[in-house]
Amino acid sequence: MSLTSVAQAVYLVAAVLFILSLAGLSRQETARRGNLSGMAGMGLALAATVALALDGSEREVGVTAALIAAVLLVGLTVGTWQARRVEMTQMPELIAILHSFVGLAAVLVGFNSYLTEPADPVHLVEVFLGVLIGAVTFTGSVVAYLKLSARIASAPLMLPRRNTLNLVALVVSAGLGGWFVAAPSIVPLLLMTVVALALGWHLVASIGGGDMPVVVSMLNSYSGWAAAAAGFMLSNDLLIVTGALVGSSGAILSYIMCRAMNRSFVSVILGGFGAEEGTVAAVDRDYGEHREMSAQDVADLLRDAKRVVITPGYGMAVAKAQYPVAELVAKLRARGVEVRFGVHPVAGRLPGHMNVLLAEAKVPYDIVLEMDEINDDFGDTDVVLVIGANDTVNPAALDDPGSPIAGMPVLEVWHAKQVVVFKRSMATGYAGVQNPLFFRDNTAMLFGDAKEQTEKIVHAV
Ligand code: TAP
Repeated sequence: MSLTSVAQAVYLVAAVLFILSLAGLSRQETARRGNLSGMAGMGLALAATVALALDGSEREVGVTAALIAAVLLVGLTVGTWQARRVEMTQMPELIAILHSFVGLAAVLVGFNSYLTEPADPVHLVEVFLGVLIGAVTFTGSVVAYLKLSARIASAPLMLPRRNTLNLVALVVSAGLGGWFVAAPSIVPLLLMTVVALALGWHLVASIGGGDMPVVVSMLNSYSGWAAAAAGFMLSNDLLIVTGALVGSSGAILSYIMCRAMNRSFVSVILGGFGAEEGTVAAVDRDYGEHREMSAQDVADLLRDAKRVVITPGYGMAVAKAQYPVAELVAKLRARGVEVRFGVHPVAGRLPGHMNVLLAEAKVPYDIVLEMDEINDDFGDTDVVLVIGANDTVNPAALDDPGSPIAGMPVLEVWHAKQVVVFKRSMATGYAGVQNPLFFRDNTAMLFGDAKEQTEKIVHAV
C-alpha cells in the first residue's frame, strides 16, 4: 500500500473524529469527550500531513523535516502559552484573532498556489475565491479582535451609503475575477486582495458592540469556507471536509444567535445591521431615582422567599462570583426555597458562557433554564437576583423602539415581586445603553463586587 493511500485512510478517520467532536460539543455532558475527539482527529491529520510532506519533498528530507519541526515548535509554544494565559472573558478575542490566522493562511496558500501551479481555469477560480474569502476573514477578524479587546471603540462606523460601498466592492471583485480567469496575471489578483481586505474591515467596523457575538460566529463560518477553499487549492480532502464542517456549523450558530437577538440573518451577512440610521442611544434621559439595599437586606428577603430566580450576566464572570453563587443556591435549596437560573442566549461574552461557569461551580444542570423556558414564570417569582447582567434584562429592548437593542428578546425579570441587581455602579452594560429596570419601584440595587456581596449574603442567610 502506498503512503498516499494510508494517508487518505487516516484523513477519513480524522474526518469522522471531527464530526464526532461536533456532536459531542453540542451537549454539556458530552462536551469533554467532544474536545478529546477533536484533538485526536487533529493529531492524526497533522501526522499524516507531515508524513506526506516528507515523502513528496523535493529537498533533502532532513531540511524539510527541520522546517516542519521549527514551525510546529513555534506554533505549539505560542498556542500553549496563549491558551494557558487567556481568561474565560477574553475567549471571544482569542477566537477572533485565531480566525484571522485562517484567513491569512488562505490568502498565502492562494498566492503560492497561483505562482507554482499550472493556470487552468478551475484552479484559477479556486485561487480567486480562496484569496477573496481569506482576505475578508483576515481583516474582519482583526477588527473584531480590536473591538472585543477594547483597543478600538466598539461603536459602529457609519460611513455614508455603507451598503452601496459593500455592493460596489463585491461587483468590482467579480469584475476582477473575470479578468483574472480570462487573462491570468498577478495584477487582478493583487487588486482584488486589496478590495477584499478593505471589504472585511468595513463589514465588521460597521457593526455595533451588542451584535459582536454574531459577528464572531459569522467570521468562524467565513474562516471555515476559507479553509475549504485552501483544501481545493492543495487538493487536500480533509481540509475541504473540515472547512465545510466549520463553515456550516458557524453559519448555523450565527443563525441561532440571530434568532435569539431578533436580528435578520441576511442583514448580518451584509454587515452593519447593529445600528439603523437614526437610532439614538437614550443616555441623557431622566429615569428617576434608584433604591439601594444591603447584603443583609437581601439575605432577609431570600429567607422569606419561596421561589427565587437568578439571572447571571457578564459581571458574574468578571467577579468569578459563580462559586459563592453556587454555595448560596445550595443553602437556599436546603432551606426548601425553590431556586432556578434563567440564562439569556447571549449573556456574557460568548455562546454558552454562563452555562460553562455554572457547570464549573457544580450547579445542577436541571435548575439552569434557558430564557424561553423561564420567561413566563417571573410573575410567580418572589425574588430575582440579577447578578452582573444588564443588557439581557433591559425592558427598553421591548418597549423603546428607539433603543439600540430594540427587538432583542430579554429576560422579563421585572414581572417578579422583587428584583435585586448586583453591580458596582450605575454604569451601562456592553451595548452602552442605560437600563430603566434599575429605576423601577420593585427593583433595588446592591452595589459592590458581585463575589464579595454574594459571600456576605451566604454568611447572613
Ligand atoms: P452586560 O450588559 O455586559 O452587563 C454586565 C454588567 O456587569 C455591567 O453593567 C457591570 O456593571 C457589571 N459588572 C461588571 N463587573 C462586575 C463585578 N465585578 N461585580 C458586579 N457587577 C459587575 O452583561 P449581560 O447582561 O450578560 O449582556 C451581555 C452583553 O454582551 C449583551 O449586550 C450581548 O449582546 C453582548 N455580547 C454577548 C456575547 C455572547 S455570545 N454572549 C458576546 C459579545 C457581546 P458595573 O460596571 O456597574 O459593575
